[in-house]
Order: sequence, then C-alpha cells, then structure tokens
Amino acid sequence: MESAPTPSASILSVRPVEPAEVAWLEKGMLHVGFFSNLGRAQLAKVLPYMLLVRYAAGSVICTEGEPGDAMYLIFKGAVLITKKGWKEPVARLKDGDFFGEMALLLGEPRSATVTAVGELEAFCLASVDFKRVAERSPDMTASLRQLAEERRRKLAQS
Ligand code: CMP
Repeated sequence: MESAPTPSASILSVRPVEPAEVAWLEKGMLHVGFFSNLGRAQLAKVLPYMLLVRYAAGSVICTEGEPGDAMYLIFKGAVLITKKGWKEPVARLKDGDFFGEMALLLGEPRSATVTAVGELEAFCLASVDFKRVAERSPDMTASLRQLAEERRRKLAQS
C-alpha cells in the first residue's frame, strides 16, 4: 500500500477572521492594491470569506508551475519568492504584502514558489471568492492586474 504524500505546506491551524483582526485588515487592506479601491462596506463582505492560516516555518505555500486556487495577505511573518534558474530570491514579502494573486488574475500557473521563512500567519482568499470580489470592482482589478504584470516583468529578467 502506498503511503500518503507528505504535505509540503505544514498547516498548524485554520480559522475564520476574529473581530480583533478586522481592524488590522481594514487598516491594512484598504492600502493594498487589490483592496485599495474597496470601501469599508465591500471589504466587510470579503472578510467572512477569509481564513487565517498558520503555517510552520519552511512551508511551501505556492509551487511554481502548479495551478493557483487562492491568494494570501501576510498578517505576521515573511515569505521568500523563488524561481527556478534564479540564483537569488526574486523577493521577500512581509506583513501587509500579498502573494498568489498572479495565477488568479492572469489565468496562469504559479509563476514562482512561495516559502514561509519562519512561522507565518496569512489571510487566505479562495479564488472563487476573489473572482466574486474582482467582478464587482473593475478599477480594483485593473490596479491589481497592473501590479501582477509588473511582477511578471521582473520574473522575465532572469
Ligand atoms: P502566483 O504566480 O499566483 O504565485 C507565486 C507568487 O509569487 C505570485 O503569484 C506573486 O504573488 C509572487 N511574485 C511573483 N513574482 C514576484 C515579484 N517579482 N515580486 C513580488 N512577488 C512576486
């Protein structure tokens, strides 16, 4: 009998967003590309769909070449963005930064691998909910797409 594959992302806990985190999200997300065109009312509609996921240090959250099913906003911690063929990491992202948006917006496989540096807490928005929000806010989607394309241009520089 084959043994189950070892998951590469070690999830320590998953739970809905608690009231104490809503203020942080409102403050943080209203400045983040994707969310910057959202009013508080719209943001309030997104929050119930977000889950706070805690990952063990070294977890691989997105793998280059795989399909994308969610995007993430870092609550606490840092991740490294790495790409095959690059000697150095492409970027290091920390609290308030987001990742995983490119596959959802550009309809492409994951452009890079995202690894938690230490223990990481990140808000996760599944692609189905991301699309629902994106459809309602074309301006917001356009600004996030612009950033995704800038990130893609950097990746093409290897
Ligand atoms: P995605 O392609 O879905 O999965 C890998 C993620 O790495 C990608 O979305 C971006 O969020 C992130 N990423 C890729 N390239 C860069 C970059 N140049 N700068 C910062 N983040 C990046």
